[in-house]
Amino acid sequence: MGIHRSIIRSIILTAAVISVLAAAVVTNSPHTASPATSPYTSQAPSRGGIGKLYMGREISDVMGHRGAAWLERSTRVFEERPDEVVAHMDLEPDHVVADLGAGTGYFTFRISPQVPRGHVYAVDVQRGMLDIIRKRMARGSIHNVTPVLGTTTDPRLEPSSIDAVLLVDAYHEFSDPYAMMTAVTKALKPGGRVFLVEYRAEDAAVPIKRLHKMSAAQARMEMEAVGLRWRTTLEFLPTQHFMVFEKP
Ligand SMILES: C[S@@+](CC[C@H](N)C(=O)[O-])C[C@H]1O[C@@H](n2cnc3c(N)ncnc32)[C@H](O)[C@@H]1O
Repeated sequence: MGIHRSIIRSIILTAAVISVLAAAVVTNSPHTASPATSPYTSQAPSRGGIGKLYMGREISDVMGHRGAAWLERSTRVFEERPDEVVAHMDLEPDHVVADLGAGTGYFTFRISPQVPRGHVYAVDVQRGMLDIIRKRMARGSIHNVTPVLGTTTDPRLEPSSIDAVLLVDAYHEFSDPYAMMTAVTKALKPGGRVFLVEYRAEDAAVPIKRLHKMSAAQARMEMEAVGLRWRTTLEFLPTQHFMVFEKP
């Protein structure tokens, strides 16, 4: 009887040790490891949302290419100060840059003259947007821009090839942000940077739909989940965060 009890006790003890060790492995596993289960949950879609949540944030639906005129509105220069955004990217003339979720190329064609010996990949999931970019390239005889039709999980960029990725008013629309940012991280060179510009969710006075905004804390959590390192958050824009992340 005594022997039985001590065997049972040692089985229970061993099981307890194994479960503690297993928990420690899960806790210490790097954020970059693929989640064993989906990182997303779902709910009934809110207005303008797709009903899919990532780290508690509902993902917004995608702005169609028929909204192109909105991206090119004349007041945007004052509202979003695009030249200051590009200046804060500290680009070198030979840098290779990806404008991810490029839309009409509002930023692409401001980056292109800054990298005369480098290149700009204008990535978007909508052919209609890339057609607009191609027309602008032809009109301006621009040769250092390549339009890229990406997918929702893959920007189709070569591994370790990119110095800087710019994401303006686009990331909140990514329907698979975990897969996309994992692919972006692979495409970055070590030390390569991600510049994330999103409307400030913390500020109720910013007149933008809720799902088109992000808080700095949420953005940081999502970028760190794929192994990017937060460098700084600058608040020089009237209504948006300008956040910088780096591939270690
Ligand atoms: C609101 S527009 C912003 C365009 C541009 N960045 C600008 O500031 O003018 C968002 C763009 O992101 C693109 N987009 C949405 N999901 C995407 C994804 N998973 N990968 C690449 N582009 C995406 C949309 O097609 C759209 O052109």
